[in-house]
Amino acid sequence: MTARDPNRLIIAVPKGRLLDELIPMLDQAGIKPEAAFRHGQSRKLCFATEDSGVELVQVRSFDVATLVAFGAAQIGIAGLDVIAEHEYPEIFSPVDLKIGKCRLSLARLESTTIPVEHLAGRGEVHIATKYPNTTRRYFHARGIQLRCVKLHGALELAPLLGLCDLIVDLVSTGATLRANKLIEVQVIAHSSARLIVNRNAARAQPDLINGWIERFCNLAQIGEHYIRA
Ligand code: PRP
Repeated sequence: MTARDPNRLIIAVPKGRLLDELIPMLDQAGIKPEAAFRHGQSRKLCFATEDSGVELVQVRSFDVATLVAFGAAQIGIAGLDVIAEHEYPEIFSPVDLKIGKCRLSLARLESTTIPVEHLAGRGEVHIATKYPNTTRRYFHARGIQLRCVKLHGALELAPLLGLCDLIVDLVSTGATLRANKLIEVQVIAHSSARLIVNRNAARAQPDLINGWIERFCNLAQIGEHYIRA
């Protein structure tokens, strides 16, 4: 393994729809990545920026938190949903970027009539989710026994195929639930994108890391305005 340049900053960012909101925010923060990153279709994973000391790596949303927790990236952008699911003690999330707003919700098929408010008396409930830890925490705290079936995507198929009674998934516009004849029955948590920071990196390079925290903090405070502009 080669020694890392202490002045080089690696920022992990998620693939997917958050990019539409994230790219203008990175731009405002002075992070101007090479064209391939903006196009969003590239198979590249590492992207140079106009600042030779800053590089972006683009991975799945759950892996952003893992890369930052293990110090492979010093900072990252991750949803609160992902941060809460992992609960890595090695990271902290100092700034709510107020983008990527969505909710983690329990949903059921339109055609079923599961009395969600009475789940506690129903024996073991099967729930498909990408968020087994958060789901278990939420339902166990309410005395509901459940078996989580971990899936990595296309959760909406699971109740249709009889794999489970319910799903717990992110809802943004609600279009995916509607398209698959599912109904949102309970919001479990609200989420938005956060700046996440590796604690050791913050201790080792306080000036560098604090400078970036401050930059994103200032942007988040004006976020509502520039997103509309
Ligand atoms: C998320 C989530 C839903 C969808 C909800 O998936 O898992 O499938 O978005 O959004 P909507 O309410 O606006 O329809 P995402 O698009 O992030 O892809 P993924 O399933 O690959 O994670």
